[in-house]
Amino acid sequence: MTALNALVVNGVIALVASLGLVATDAADAGPPGKPKGGPPWASAPESARQRANPYASRPDAVRAGRKLFTRHCASCHGQDAKGGNAPPLATGIVRGATDGELFWTLTNGHLREGMPSWSQLPEPRRWQIVSFLKSHDPAVKR
Ligand code: HEC
Repeated sequence: MTALNALVVNGVIALVASLGLVATDAADAGPPGKPKGGPPWASAPESARQRANPYASRPDAVRAGRKLFTRHCASCHGQDAKGGNAPPLATGIVRGATDGELFWTLTNGHLREGMPSWSQLPEPRRWQIVSFLKSHDPAVKR
């Protein structure tokens, strides 16, 4: 190998290594507010996860939930749940959660990570918000 080749190869290795490092750092830090160690509902009990939404597939609940979201959640999660100071909620992760898991998250919050508890909101309102969260992409049905 010529000296030049060795230089190039070393350069590439250094570059790849530093890229790897950057990628790892980025993954560790994540986007602002991105949950580490799983979503907030990771510690929800099975009974809570399985709770059924009494408003499931009710368009009026989605509309009510959207209003509640604008009032209580958009300041952190952004208009239309697209993210802001807190992670976006119009995501596959949220749609992939069960209604019960989202309800549990609203009820308990994730205080350590800056997500407040919404246990003061009456239960029907929390379920309506859940309906709204699950409605974002009508093509994605569970
Ligand atoms: C004061 C700012 C703030 C407000 C207001 C707020 N949240 Fe959050 N929320 C957060 C933060 C920060 C996180 C990330 C928590 C974590 O890292 O686990 C979060 C996480 C979440 C998650 C989990 C997202 C995921 O992908 O893991 C859901 C669901 C959620 N919030 C719903 C809501 C709803 C619904 C409302 C309104 C009733 C709301 N939040 C109001 C700050 C807020």
